[in-house]
Amino acid sequence: MLNIAIDGPSGAGKSTISKMLAKKLGILYLDTGAMYRAVALYVHRKGIDPNDTKNVIPLLGEIQIEFRGEGDDKKIYLNGEDVSSAIREHHISKMASDVSKIKEVRLFLVEQQRAIAAKNDIVLDGRDITSFVLPDSKYKFYLTATAEERARRRFEELKAKGSDISYEKILADVNDRDYNDTHRDFAPLVKTEDSVLIDSTNLNTDEVIEVILRYVNTH
Ligand code: DC
Repeated sequence: MLNIAIDGPSGAGKSTISKMLAKKLGILYLDTGAMYRAVALYVHRKGIDPNDTKNVIPLLGEIQIEFRGEGDDKKIYLNGEDVSSAIREHHISKMASDVSKIKEVRLFLVEQQRAIAAKNDIVLDGRDITSFVLPDSKYKFYLTATAEERARRRFEELKAKGSDISYEKILADVNDRDYNDTHRDFAPLVKTEDSVLIDSTNLNTDEVIEVILRYVNTH
């Protein structure tokens, strides 16, 4: 199977790039961050603190995550409900990062991610795909950009959606999440030695895709 693994910090453009790359190659795309977000949403709705490990773990047995639909129209379902928009709310981002620190949460989702990758030609993006989910994958990329540039992009995105959250708050949240994601004990975000580093600070989406495609076509 063709598995392309893409890791990197939040806001580096992984989802956009991965989705377009998968479309160009005519293969599937799996947004693993959306799965952590769906778990966070469920935990939040149950009124449980995402850092309350002891009370989060028993909830996993109640969670069923599915992706339905094709290409750009793909939606994520939590126990049969389309939560594609709900999981993108700003307050869910930090909660997703918090639940993702829990080893049992990770193993619950990683098992599903590996099963999907074993059966499909696919692009997966996340934080631990190159290091833990699919360490043997032939194509591994680490996509990043400066924290300021990632915050700027998110700020523009949220502003376009009518949000009045400030750039400073977003930058603080980006830094907070970077710290969380790189410092957790189990499967933290790291750039593995064998991943191709792509700094997108000064590259647009098409340019990043070109770099990846060129690599895939020549290796
Ligand atoms: O990519 P994202 O912003 O949608 O991810 C939300 C959070 O989920 C992120 O802060 C860390 C966590 N995550 C993870 O730990 N491992 C992954 N493979 C994907 C996401």
